[in-house]
Amino acid sequence: MNAHPAVLPRLAQLGGKEPEFHQLDIRDRAAIGGVLEAGFDAVIHFAGRKAVGESMSDPLGYWDTNVVGTMVLLAEMRRTGVRTLVFSSSATVYGNDAVAPFDESLPTAPINPYGETKLAVERMLEALARAEPEWRISSLRYFNPVGAHPSGDIGEDPNGIPDNLMPYITQVAVGRRDRLRVFGDDYDTPDGTGVRDYIHVVDLALGHMAALEYLAHNSGYRVHNLGTGRGYSVLEVITAFEKASGRPVPYDVTARREGDAAQAWADTQRAEAELAWRAERDIDAMCRDAWNWQRRNPNGFGNEP
Ligand code: WQD
Repeated sequence: MNAHPAVLPRLAQLGGKEPEFHQLDIRDRAAIGGVLEAGFDAVIHFAGRKAVGESMSDPLGYWDTNVVGTMVLLAEMRRTGVRTLVFSSSATVYGNDAVAPFDESLPTAPINPYGETKLAVERMLEALARAEPEWRISSLRYFNPVGAHPSGDIGEDPNGIPDNLMPYITQVAVGRRDRLRVFGDDYDTPDGTGVRDYIHVVDLALGHMAALEYLAHNSGYRVHNLGTGRGYSVLEVITAFEKASGRPVPYDVTARREGDAAQAWADTQRAEAELAWRAERDIDAMCRDAWNWQRRNPNGFGNEP
């Protein structure tokens, strides 16, 4: 489990009630089924491994957790009569050759095991909904989630050295890391650095609520992008973060990271039309809330410095 136990009391404080928590392995059919037998209206499925680099060195582990785990979940949902599912998918399924903005009808071509497992699950879900029309399933393709709850009580706390840009920046700003490496400034982008569609994690959460509402009125299978429709370069994010935090983010430009695309951002028309949802928080809010979390929790949820 990547989450830290300290999250639970903070969620209780923020939500005003104790969350019911069961620590179990999604591949444990008896455990999953035992929980589902309590009776649920829907499942929002976040349980998976999500580090691109790690998936390259442990493809079997990724297929086991992300794909076999989902098969176990679906079997137990069917057995216990729960047939509404929101699945945490990823824009990584579009691959590196797609031309931004990405819309949901684009061909998919993931280039790493992480993205391949996300696509495999999407295909499994689509086939299931076609075979059993009583299912109501939404796959949400996340672009780049960043930021934190505005309270600063919960936020992103990667284990070890952050793979992703924003947590690395916040750890430099708070003094846990010396300098940021900017992976290449020779891409075909306005300033040469990679462009991504960063989306505030609170907007992402609201997108899940909108998907549940959509499924209350629509059966079958549907994919929706969750992005802002606006791309920012690495250097633009650095500038926005320094402005929001008042802290310098020293960096060195290094070689490109293997597997990185130049540009990726979402076409958001389908989510706006069908989910009646649109991301509301801009890059300044993303940086402000990411910094507020890190400033208040320099070592995350109690991780070693
Ligand atoms: C963003 C940009 C890097 C780190 C991730 C994964 C996965 C997915 C979100 C859900 C790129 C540059 C990064 C650093 C840098 N989540 N960068 N220095 O590459 O879009 O991939 O997207 O599916 O977590 O697929 O996000 O944050 O790693 O990189 O220069 O130390 O920042 O080159 O241009 P990415 P990222």
